[in-house]
Amino acid sequence: MLKVEIVKSLQNNYIFVLTCTQTGKTSVVDPSQALEVEEHLNGKRVDIILNTHQHDDHCYGIKELVEKHHCHVYCPVNDIKDGIGAVKYVEDRSLLTGLRAKDTINIGEVQLEVMEIPGHTMNHIAYFVPSQNLLFSGDTLFAAGCGNTFDGDVEALYNTLNKFKFLPKDTKVFCSHEYTLNNIEFALREYPQLETLKSRYENAKVLLANNIPLVPLHLSEELFTNPFLLAPDLEFFKDLRAKKDKF
Ligand SMILES: [Fe+2]
Repeated sequence: MLKVEIVKSLQNNYIFVLTCTQTGKTSVVDPSQALEVEEHLNGKRVDIILNTHQHDDHCYGIKELVEKHHCHVYCPVNDIKDGIGAVKYVEDRSLLTGLRAKDTINIGEVQLEVMEIPGHTMNHIAYFVPSQNLLFSGDTLFAAGCGNTFDGDVEALYNTLNKFKFLPKDTKVFCSHEYTLNNIEFALREYPQLETLKSRYENAKVLLANNIPLVPLHLSEELFTNPFLLAPDLEFFKDLRAKKDKF
């Protein structure tokens, strides 16, 4: 079984520390900083780093963690081809492996499957744990929102979000940023009838004020309240994404 711990970093990043409870093998997802990870691990070793996409706020901690732990780094295969992202932070290329859709990797006894989820960036990947229905989705799906398409493509993002609709409904989504309040404010402007978002907003404010992370998201809740998952077609989605970019 995989234990997931959440480490907050930078202004609004979430780093995830995954531990196989049988073997103690440990992995870190998108280490934006090494310091917070080391403090959290308190002397424990990192065996694997999992990177979802090229942006520096998902990679900054990789160099220091690799130097200290000599751990293996997995990232999108196309980021290696393009010479971007994690590849910039790993000098010893024997420690770096590129992943594509349907590849599997293990953290101890627990298997993870790779999904290609283009949109926020074109090479973006996610890690899905089928034995527990956990999804580590980087900057693609957020609470009541989704990633922007600065380096990506809005049609690809639309198709990726539609792909998420076919995951098991009890999937828990670990996204890499805390944008809940801003996303709900936008969602309520577009869908004022979504009453459930109002209570979610009030709950989120209380939890955040008490320093409690708002991940994981529940896919079942997102399916009924996330305006980007509710978009009926591509044109509507494009318009919504453009409005959110200016919000
Ligand atoms: Fe990003």
